[in-house]
Amino acid sequence: MTERKISHLRYLALAMPNFEEERDFFIKHWGLIEVKGDENTSYLAAAGSDEAYVVRLRKGEKRIDLVGFAAKDRADVDSFYQELLAKDVQMVHPPQALSQFDGGYGFRFFDVDGRTLEISTENKGQASRPVKEREAIPVKLSHVVFNTSNLAKTTQWWLDVLGFSISDSLVSDHMGDMMHFLRCNKAHHSIAVAQGPHHSLHHMSFEMRGIEEWMRGAGKILRAGTRMVWGLGRHNAGDNTFAYFIDPAGNTVEYTTELATIEDEDAWEPHKLNIREVSTQDQWGTANPMSEFVARESFNDVDHGLFVAPPL
Ligand SMILES: [Fe+2]
Repeated sequence: MTERKISHLRYLALAMPNFEEERDFFIKHWGLIEVKGDENTSYLAAAGSDEAYVVRLRKGEKRIDLVGFAAKDRADVDSFYQELLAKDVQMVHPPQALSQFDGGYGFRFFDVDGRTLEISTENKGQASRPVKEREAIPVKLSHVVFNTSNLAKTTQWWLDVLGFSISDSLVSDHMGDMMHFLRCNKAHHSIAVAQGPHHSLHHMSFEMRGIEEWMRGAGKILRAGTRMVWGLGRHNAGDNTFAYFIDPAGNTVEYTTELATIEDEDAWEPHKLNIREVSTQDQWGTANPMSEFVARESFNDVDHGLFVAPPL
């Protein structure tokens, strides 16, 4: 297996016009903790995560601002930057001291579709704590999924340029490949890419402590009046449980738990799971059936941030 420069997913930064509503939702209902904020930005931590924040919200036109990943040290940041330069990756800025409150050293660049990505190290982090039994709050950010209008091209770039590996894929009889689950460490997926009508955020997913906490979390969100678009169920790819909701900005947000880890990556053979099999989507059979209507719920709005660096 080739050595990876990206060690893990750190955070997702999003912008939306109804910033106040989105911020309220994540703090009052979803269970994230605001660690820093002003009238235009909010940095939100998950209690069980060492990252200083796992979500950053910003008031503005709706877009993905950026996705942050970690590298293990400065040497990896610097050499990865050189590697990407040699592969003609379009840079936003070279490795430097980062200006966000958790510090760090890193660089920003655009992926093949124009999403802004950040690779950093030496970020300050926070003192996490174990999430308690029956405590219905996220432990950490689990994964981020993008829609792309060109699944093959986007996926190949993430494999060749960033060093991700395909863990499993969803396929359909008439559409062929529909989604690829990508890993950068032993977690089955930290990123996934889905075939959609345009480039956009498909969903962001938060890991709960276990089944009990995941169930309580889902119930809490339902009682808050939030619409559940798909769930409660258990996927085949990744073996994780799922409950998908629509947040106030129209993004799909997921509570999940028990995502598989791939202990022996060299021995792992990716599966092509056909969505025709009902167990591919939901092993339990408890979720509403996946349909074209349900799938469309996560197409989301066209991302207005492509090839435009976020202001912070
Ligand atoms: Fe997910």
